[in-house]
Amino acid sequence: MRKKIVAGNWKMNKTFDESRVLMNELKSKLNKDTASKVEVVICPPFLCIPAAKEILADTKIMYGAQNIHNRDDGAFTGEISASMLHAIGCEYVILGHSERRQYFNETNHLINFKVIKALEKGVKPILCVGETLEQREQGIEKKIVDEQITLCLKDVCAMDTDNLVIAYEPVWAIGTGKTASPEQAEEMHVEIRKSLENLYNATVAGRTRILYGGSMNDKNAKELLSMNNIDGGLIGGASLKADSFIAIIEAAK
Ligand code: 13P
Repeated sequence: MRKKIVAGNWKMNKTFDESRVLMNELKSKLNKDTASKVEVVICPPFLCIPAAKEILADTKIMYGAQNIHNRDDGAFTGEISASMLHAIGCEYVILGHSERRQYFNETNHLINFKVIKALEKGVKPILCVGETLEQREQGIEKKIVDEQITLCLKDVCAMDTDNLVIAYEPVWAIGTGKTASPEQAEEMHVEIRKSLENLYNATVAGRTRILYGGSMNDKNAKELLSMNNIDGGLIGGASLKADSFIAIIEAAK
């Protein structure tokens, strides 16, 4: 049985003080029973992670980050390492998000190094994959996603995939209000399991959690999350308000 995960990707939103307000609201409004049935994760900006450590300490809500550098430490001005995230209690890190691929030129090759580094340092990667609208229109979306999975997981051994989460985020659905239909998402999630089976084996394919991301909200979450191969959501915009994020978590229960 794959336990569902609902993760909030806050992206570049919320000041330190604003983040505290949202974290406190989540903490007070999230039902304890729900939190024990669904893994709840928030990924705020780096600056707000100390607030998460303090405010969420006595809750089941986990926290993570949105990026790391692929090296341990050293002269990399402006960067944050996986060890630093681990030291402050981050459970997860989002890697390979399409916004990082698009605006920061992150390649599958670089993302692969980051995935390996995160696993080595004990931070679980939420590896994002997904095609652009153009690629879907060309009918190459499955090939693109398979290639992303294969290249980003190069040299990651089967044992380490225990700590790996994948998020399917079709680029055309991110922040656009357009969601993949439950059938479209399910179809790609099945393909991702096939890629995992080819890379590893049926056990890995069957146990790896695959989240859907792209305009998931309190209205469409239930239908998406009812599909057999959708194990949760990676939520952008709707994770910035406690009520909508909690409604999605409830839908995952
Ligand atoms: P939205 O939910 O705002 O579409 O963002 C999805 C996303 O990119 C999560 O990582």
